[in-house]
Amino acid sequence: MLLHFIFPAGTQNMEEKWNYRVRSCNWLLCELADIAASPEQLRLINVLWETQICIRSGDDMNRVDEKVAIVTGGGSGIGESSSELLAEGGASVVVTDINEEAAEHTADIIKQRGGRAISMYQDVTDEGRWQEVVEAATSKFGKLNVLVNNAGIGGVGMDDIEQSSFEDWRKIMSTNLDAVYLGCKKAVEVMKGEGGSIINISSVMGIVASVGVGPAYNASKGGVRLLSKQVAVHCGTLGYKIRVNSIHPGFIWTPMMRSAVGVADEITTEEDLRQMLLLRHPIGRLGVAEDIAKGVRFLASEDSSFMTGSELVIDGGYTAV
Ligand code: NAI
Repeated sequence: MLLHFIFPAGTQNMEEKWNYRVRSCNWLLCELADIAASPEQLRLINVLWETQICIRSGDDMNRVDEKVAIVTGGGSGIGESSSELLAEGGASVVVTDINEEAAEHTADIIKQRGGRAISMYQDVTDEGRWQEVVEAATSKFGKLNVLVNNAGIGGVGMDDIEQSSFEDWRKIMSTNLDAVYLGCKKAVEVMKGEGGSIINISSVMGIVASVGVGPAYNASKGGVRLLSKQVAVHCGTLGYKIRVNSIHPGFIWTPMMRSAVGVADEITTEEDLRQMLLLRHPIGRLGVAEDIAKGVRFLASEDSSFMTGSELVIDGGYTAV
C-alpha cells in the first residue's frame, strides 16, 4: 500500500516532513480505531498500522544522519545525485568538482532543500588539493566519515590498443585511478581514528571488457576494483574501522553517457545510443543516476556495516549475460 502525503506549504526540511508523516499516520489510526465497527474495518486498521511501520523502517533505513561526506565530481550525474541523497539522509556534504560552478549548483540545491553542504573546486589528480578539501570538511563540519571517489572521465572514442595513444592512456588513468588512490590515502589518514566508509565508483567496465570504451577506461576501472579491496584489507588488518567498497554501475543516462553519441557511424542521435544500450540491459531500461546514488547511500550508512572489500554491482543485469 502506498500513501501519498501532501505536505503543508513550505515544508522542505526532511525532519519536518518525517514528523508530519508520523503525525498524519497516528491521527489516521486513532480516528479509524474509534469508528471501526466490523472485522473488515479492523483488518484495514491493521494494514495501516503495518504500513506505518514500513514507513518508519523505510525512513530509518540508509540514514546517514550526523555523517560528513566528501563527494568528488559532485557537480553532475552520479556525483550530483549521490550528494543530494546523502544530504536528504541527513549528512553534511562537501561537493567538489573540477567544474566549480556545477559543484556550487549542487550545493545550492541541497541548501534550498534544507540540507547542509559546501562546494569546492577540486581537480582530483592534484595531490595537494586533497589536503585542502579534507581540511575544509573537518573545519566546517568537524569530522569526515564518508568519501565518495566518484569523479571520472569516459573512455569512449579513445580507440583500441592499436590506435590509442599513451597520452590518452595517462589522462584516463590519472583521473580514474591515480586520483582514487590519492583520495583513499588521504581518507585513511583522517578516518583511521574514528572509522568511516570509502566508496569508489568503478563500473561494469571494471569487471568485463567492452569494444569501444578503450583500454584505459577498462584498466582504470578494474584498478579501482582491486585498489578498493587492497585498502579494505589493509584497514581491516590494522583494526581501523574503515570500510572500503566499490560500486559497479551499468550504463547510466548521464552527461558522460550522452557524450558517446557520434562515436560510431550508426549512433548519430541520443535515441540511437539509448536503443543500442537498452539491448545490453536485461532489466529493460537504462539506469538513472539515482539508482547508483541509493547504493552510495547504503554503503555510507551502517546498514552496510558488514561490507568491506566488496563490489556492489548495480547494472540492470548487464554483467549477467
Ligand atoms: P558525469 O560526466 O556526469 O560527471 C562526472 C563529473 O566529474 C563531472 O562533473 C566532471 O566535471 C567531474 N570531473 C571530471 N574530471 C574531474 C577531475 N579531474 N577532478 C574533479 N572532478 C572531475 O559522469 P557520470 O556518468 O556521473 O560518472 C560518474 C562516475 O561514474 C565516473 O567515475 C564514471 O566513470 C562512473 N560510471 C559512469 C557510468 C555511466 O554510464 N554514466 C557507468 C559506470 C561508471
